[in-house]
Amino acid sequence: MNCTEVISNAVYILKENLIKNPYLDSEMLLSKALKIKRENLLTNLNMKLTNEDIIKFNKLIERTKKKEPIAYILGYKSFWKSNFKVNHDVLIPRPETEHIVEEVLKIIPKSASYNVLDIGTGSGCLIISIILERKRSRGTAIDISKNAINIAKYNAKIQHIGNRIKFVNSSVDKFHRGKYDLIISNPPYIKNFRINYLEDDVKLYEPKVALDGGVDGYSNINKVIIKSSKLLKTKGKLILEIDDKQKNTTNKILKQNGFYTNKIVKDLAKKYRCIVSTKI
Ligand SMILES: C[S@@+](CC[C@H](N)C(=O)[O-])C[C@H]1O[C@@H](n2cnc3c(N)ncnc32)[C@H](O)[C@@H]1O
Repeated sequence: MNCTEVISNAVYILKENLIKNPYLDSEMLLSKALKIKRENLLTNLNMKLTNEDIIKFNKLIERTKKKEPIAYILGYKSFWKSNFKVNHDVLIPRPETEHIVEEVLKIIPKSASYNVLDIGTGSGCLIISIILERKRSRGTAIDISKNAINIAKYNAKIQHIGNRIKFVNSSVDKFHRGKYDLIISNPPYIKNFRINYLEDDVKLYEPKVALDGGVDGYSNINKVIIKSSKLLKTKGKLILEIDDKQKNTTNKILKQNGFYTNKIVKDLAKKYRCIVSTKI
């Protein structure tokens, strides 16, 4: 069989199993099985495959069929301008989270040296993207998950900025170190009873600790805001990702803790997603 033939078989299987991007997924997974770039695959679609290649590819398609996210199978996800290593210990970086990076880059001038804290760093996608863009700034990133911290450290190392970000395995409530110009966080904010109703790819494969926002969804949002009110310098900024429906309550919590809300940014789906505030 050649590449076109195995891809069309795989597309058929994935479509039957209601997988969202059957063509792209099949091409990416065949590239992985053959250890070649997708561009090279697409220019060599007549290439004959060995049995061993086909078995390897079919195993990857089996995983996709069971709704495992393609990023976990490939082992990486692209975010902002880089690829980030991911595994089941970290949330897969989402495109909507890039709004935090956009907002941060509007705030930190290119030549400034800000001290930035990332609470709940996961793969490190946020702090690493920011520190890569702002060469004079430095960062600290914390996460309650030791395994996530190890992945984030690895991602910083392969971007050659391991020495500009301190990674700390700590819960937000136990972290007391430093004073920051800017704090960012994409905390877990889903009400815990709703986790069972999420899509299978999220519910079955992504870490619960990265999703679970407690009974009302605000458990971590609260902790992050309270901690930020202590660790931010006056006039420092806090930039948070939230769910669309959390805008008003988050605003209220910010106000109660001495923050002024500068703006609330909508994502491409027109949902309120990112809230920029200043410690008064
Ligand atoms: C929604 S994920 C965000 C990951 C990454 N920042 C991103 O945007 O892709 C939330 C992260 O917060 C971490 N986390 C959950 N509870 C925490 C806590 N109490 N203190 C610190 N980190 C926590 C989780 O382990 C997870 O990595």
